[in-house]
Amino acid sequence: MVNGAVQKTAENGLESAIARALAGRSVVLVGMMGAGKSSIGRRLAARLGIPFVDADTEIESAAGMTIPEIFEKHGEPYFRAGEARVIARLLDGKPSVLATGGGAVMDANTRDLIAAKGISVWLNADVDVLVKRTKRRTDRPLVEKIKELMPLREPFYAQSKIVVHSRDEPHDTIVNEIMGALATHLRIPAAKEQTP
Ligand code: S3P
Repeated sequence: MVNGAVQKTAENGLESAIARALAGRSVVLVGMMGAGKSSIGRRLAARLGIPFVDADTEIESAAGMTIPEIFEKHGEPYFRAGEARVIARLLDGKPSVLATGGGAVMDANTRDLIAAKGISVWLNADVDVLVKRTKRRTDRPLVEKIKELMPLREPFYAQSKIVVHSRDEPHDTIVNEIMGALATHLRIPAAKEQTP
């Protein structure tokens, strides 16, 4: 019980230390569809006590259409232009955990904005895991192209400040790894060295 309480205090200390050290920047999750950006991002945001924002959801509400409808009615270039605008707007706002769509990093301006206003985290998952997780999805027009797109995108994902291996482990395990990597990246001392 006492140990549990000490552990909790240490965790809360780390969480608020990370949130402070972000200093107005967002944590930006990048990676292929199926990497777990939304589910991991939501939990990470709750741990850090900052909002979670999903760029795909924001694009859909700005357009008043679903992603498949946008692709079908206007085509992919139109979707990409909207995606770049929405991400720029979100990065201009309050710090958050921002889940980006799988193709967002292919836009050079988006990459520059992420580097300037965020700390990028690549959720890197094996292609077989991505295919397995997404095969029944009907809301992702490019789902059949995962194997083809992955090698084209990897060099850009790999420019991220933090890389975490997203795999079939409990979400909390992955979130803990991101927290640890953020603490290292932000040079936050280990819990026992922190002042309460
Ligand atoms: C896309 C990924 C999707 C969505 C759109 C295009 C892609 O987002 O933005 O269907 O090009 O990989 P998620 O990665 O969040 O599924």
